[in-house]
Amino acid sequence: MDFVAALQDLTTDRLRERGSLKWTVPGPDQLGAFVAESDLPMAPVIRAALDDALDRGLTGYLPPATSEVAEAACADFQRSRFGWQVGAEQVHLLPDVLAALSFSASFIFDTRLPIVLPTPAYMPFLDLPGVLGRPLRTVPMERVSGRYSLDPERLGQALAGGGLLVLVNPHNPTGQVATRAELLQIADVVERTGSVVFCDEIHSPLVYYGSRHIPYASLDDRTAAHSVTAVSASKGWNLPGLACAQLILGSREQRRRWDEAPMVARHGTSPLGAVAAAAAYSPSGVDHLDQAIAYLQSGRDLFAQAVATRMPHVGYTPPAATYIHWLDLGGTDMSAAELTERSGVLGTDGTDCGATGFMRLTLATTHAVIADAADRLAVALSR
Ligand SMILES: Cc1ncc(COP(=O)(O)O)c(C=O)c1O
Repeated sequence: MDFVAALQDLTTDRLRERGSLKWTVPGPDQLGAFVAESDLPMAPVIRAALDDALDRGLTGYLPPATSEVAEAACADFQRSRFGWQVGAEQVHLLPDVLAALSFSASFIFDTRLPIVLPTPAYMPFLDLPGVLGRPLRTVPMERVSGRYSLDPERLGQALAGGGLLVLVNPHNPTGQVATRAELLQIADVVERTGSVVFCDEIHSPLVYYGSRHIPYASLDDRTAAHSVTAVSASKGWNLPGLACAQLILGSREQRRRWDEAPMVARHGTSPLGAVAAAAAYSPSGVDHLDQAIAYLQSGRDLFAQAVATRMPHVGYTPPAATYIHWLDLGGTDMSAAELTERSGVLGTDGTDCGATGFMRLTLATTHAVIADAADRLAVALSR
């Protein structure tokens, strides 16, 4: 069955029967839009690779040969998709992107550096520095004509004396894709303050037509030397439960630190995740991704149309990447909690992202569910 036909058959009842997190936490009259999980079909090449791995009993610890195949596939994808000349020897596997940040903060970069985070932000990034026992400095982004940007002066103040900047691009929750000029401006501040960057590019596979993802480390020699980059097939191909992210290291020095880090800190990637990631980054995995992008983009357009015509007091810029939508409720008289309560659409309160008065929705689902969510929100806001 082709991609779109498979989605047309997918009723809400069938989605609930699947038992995923986003469909089991909401009550029977609610819709889940709080977690970055996707309802889109799994790529057949990933399914076949997983079936084969299970047939071979690959449920133990990660064998080096399996790891190497995933590392090479990740490097190939970065080269062919984004023109970033990554070698397989630069890629290292870790269970997830949060583990990659913990690892980088603890073993790659100077452990005395404060962690600097632009807000609004992906919620766990606000808590992780505390868990690591590290100071957190947040930098509120400025919003001009619907576009968020980092003011170089404010960023410079937060990074004064050196800091570890967490740079998420494409951005969660705004769905923005940074331009070359924006990235270069950040790079200048990072260099001037003697800082380093953890680039979270987990959403880079999901960039819509009309925008282009530029890996930060690919900009120039400075950014390659002062950053590490975490990527994963977990969002583009919906594989977060399989626990395999990739940390791409720039310099030889960083790779030496990887080699010298304790085994326990480099451990825990699932062999099934590595098999799935290698299949995701293969040519047929990428074909599937392109179909997913086309479908998600038309779902985004459908939602954007509904906001424009039926929710005139909501501030909204359609995402240029990701299925994450960021609604400014400042012009309405409703908080995110009230809107959730009245609409039955379970989103994330912007307060949890460091920005009160906003609501974050993840809409990686069928067009029918997106239309239903938009309708519920419009009705709740018009009461
Ligand atoms: C920007 C961003 N970073 C990291 C993650 C978490 O990824 P992982 O499950 O690989 O830690 C997410 C998940 O939604 C995300 O949106």
